[in-house]
Amino acid sequence: MSTLTPREIVSELDKFIIGQADAKRMVAIAMRNRWRRQQLPAELRDEISPKNIIMMGPTGVGKTEIARRLAKLSGCPFFKVEATKFTEVGYVGRDVESMIRDLMEIGIALVRKEELGKVKVKAEKNAEEHLLDLLLPSSKPKNPTMAFFNPNANANEAIPIQEEKPSEDTSSTREKFRKMWRDGKLDEREIDIEVTVQGGTGVEIMSMPGMEDMGMQVNDMIGNMFPNKKKTRKVNIREAYDILIQEESDKLIDMDNVADMARERVEQSGILFLDEIDKIAGRHESSGSTDVSREGVQRDLLPIVEGSVVKTKYGMVKTDHILFISAGAFHYSKPSDLIPELQGRFPLRVELHALGKDEFYRILTEPQNALTVQYKALLETEKITIDYSREALEEVAATAQKINEETENIGARRLYTIMEKILSDLSFEAPDRSGETVMIDKDYVKDKLKDVIEDRDLSRYIL
Ligand SMILES: Nc1ncnc2c1ncn2[C@@H]1O[C@H](COP(=O)(O)OP(=O)(O)OP(=O)(O)O)[C@@H](O)[C@H]1O
Ligand SMILES: [Mg+2]
Repeated sequence: MSTLTPREIVSELDKFIIGQADAKRMVAIAMRNRWRRQQLPAELRDEISPKNIIMMGPTGVGKTEIARRLAKLSGCPFFKVEATKFTEVGYVGRDVESMIRDLMEIGIALVRKEELGKVKVKAEKNAEEHLLDLLLPSSKPKNPTMAFFNPNANANEAIPIQEEKPSEDTSSTREKFRKMWRDGKLDEREIDIEVTVQGGTGVEIMSMPGMEDMGMQVNDMIGNMFPNKKKTRKVNIREAYDILIQEESDKLIDMDNVADMARERVEQSGILFLDEIDKIAGRHESSGSTDVSREGVQRDLLPIVEGSVVKTKYGMVKTDHILFISAGAFHYSKPSDLIPELQGRFPLRVELHALGKDEFYRILTEPQNALTVQYKALLETEKITIDYSREALEEVAATAQKINEETENIGARRLYTIMEKILSDLSFEAPDRSGETVMIDKDYVKDKLKDVIEDRDLSRYIL
């Protein structure tokens, strides 16, 4: 688990997200509280439940982005799901428990990756030996550990391993091949390799929309009825090596152990991000049958947020200490439109602010992965160098604000549509203009945006 202090977490988030200081502070505290809880004696630890958060704010101002970045830097299992995906138990659709199963899959992938990292060196070594066995079947040492070294031999005695040592020339051929392989001289040669194909009929059982879980279970069941098969494939040696690494790594890691660790990780530090929570709120303007089901979803959510046990492929998962962060625009509803029990489970509320041109300018220039940096790098691949003048980016920011005001406020997403419009001609012509340096200045921006700015209706469609 991450040991970052709240201040450190905020400063990490600052690298990617402009403004929204309150929201950053709040999630930073929530993260730190989980670390604090881990330091406590077990009796007290179990008593402390996470303080779940609701982030409110208009579209495109960084709600999801904060949650995503937080997940990345904390290394916790993190899963994001739209609350609108769920339907009440008993109806066709996804049941809310599936989000715990999904979070568990993420935990498994996370732990497995870490374990793979730990056995990497060994797996690479084994894969190399295996590869040489395939290339030179005759040179295979009969008993690899005994061949050159006899651990039982007394140091003073002559070591009687002569007869087990492969003959001089096969072992030196093996070393020659090893060197060639390491120098990359064998990469393109083709080789036959046995690969294991997942059991099953080879036909995916298509699942009905909303019934993916059931489809998955059926596929698993059928998979278990047909044992895994071996199949010979012709691949180049580079690919063969990758396949062998996979196989050797799988032998070296214990999946039961991975499942245990993943479950522990999910239960103690998992984060579930429930997006679009406002869309299941609407309790008051109740009319029609959709509201019945919305409230039903809220009721189904309740036990999971409060703490219950969910059955997954990897065993039972307790949800008591999973942190829930939910987000929504809350344009047409308020947190108080959620059923009271659920409101109580999300005690922390934070508001994110609408963004204006100053923030837009910073979003264009400050983050490590800023849009301007992305476009520059993309065009670099065509040997085109682009640079932006300060005035040009100010113009982009101001235009974004203006169009957000005049049409619909879609926040920072507006920058995407504008940048795309400005650079689309260049993107298209890039391969023919290799070697050029293009300065994007204010006139360039104005020129590219001229027709849409003049025609407000047009801007509705294009930007
Ligand atoms: N404050 C910000 N700083 C930097 N980038 C931002 C900021 N706000 C939004 N963005 C960028 O705009 C895009 C949309 O933001 P995000 O997905 O966080 O929106 P949201 O608040 O979750 O909106 P919605 O309610 O529509 O889900 C992201 O790609 C993000 O990088
Ligand atoms: Mg979002």
